[in-house]
Amino acid sequence: MYQKFPEFLINFISQSFENKNEIEKLNFLSENFEKISFSTSFGKEDQVITDMIFQNDFPIQVFTIDTGRLFEETYRTWQRTLDLYRKKIDVFFPSFVEMEKYLTEKGTLNFYNSVENRKECCYFRKRIPLERALRNTQIWITGLRSEQSENRKHISIVEFDAQLQLIKVNLLIFWTAANVDEYLQTNQVPYNSLHDKGFVSIGCEPCTRAVRQDEDFRAGRWWWENKSEKECGLHTH
Ligand code: ADX
Ligand code: SF4
Repeated sequence: MYQKFPEFLINFISQSFENKNEIEKLNFLSENFEKISFSTSFGKEDQVITDMIFQNDFPIQVFTIDTGRLFEETYRTWQRTLDLYRKKIDVFFPSFVEMEKYLTEKGTLNFYNSVENRKECCYFRKRIPLERALRNTQIWITGLRSEQSENRKHISIVEFDAQLQLIKVNLLIFWTAANVDEYLQTNQVPYNSLHDKGFVSIGCEPCTRAVRQDEDFRAGRWWWENKSEKECGLHTH
């Protein structure tokens, strides 16, 4: 949609963001764009943004991708969030036609066998639902933070996703983990109980483990892979 003007829009939004706090940034987006979507995995960062959107009634769609392999604790956080705010969270599933074929042919744990197999599972369970969720979206808001990994260090607050043809706003990109915790505590926002058991970044249950204090934030994701860049295809840079 934006193929011809991404630089113009990125500059416009980035400049307008200057000296604004996160609520003001969300307000600016709401006033200037019609179709804005925020993706949540119910991790701590996403709970901060969900709170900002719901408490301020911003006209921003909140959606999640239920890969079918999430932790029970994640479903409980999802329900607590619905109960607290009483707002809509749209959900996108993988295609049952593709999943039936995939599981019949490859079994249930094929992702442990190779990076290619793992990426195939992520493609069916995450990427395809994401593309469906973001169809016709102008602005996609995420909870990515630069501190999370080497890969994410150089991400900007506003970027153009050439594959999805939309503007991506990484609202908390410069926030530290301490900033996130402080917001959650001050505003009494519910969060996934796994975070208190050493889980930092939480994805699918078979592919996420707790991390030690000396490990980096994403060490617990696809922990058996040594040399992959540990991304699942949601975020391409
Ligand atoms: S991932 O690509 O490795 O899975 P990560 O867990 O770090 O991503 O989360 C980064 C951002 O991606 C989140 O803030 C959220 O915006 C989005 N995201 C990740 N997983 C999901 C999901 N299951 N549903 C919706 N959005 C998600
Ligand atoms: Fe499949 Fe694991 Fe990727 Fe989830 S994180 S989609 S279970 S490979």
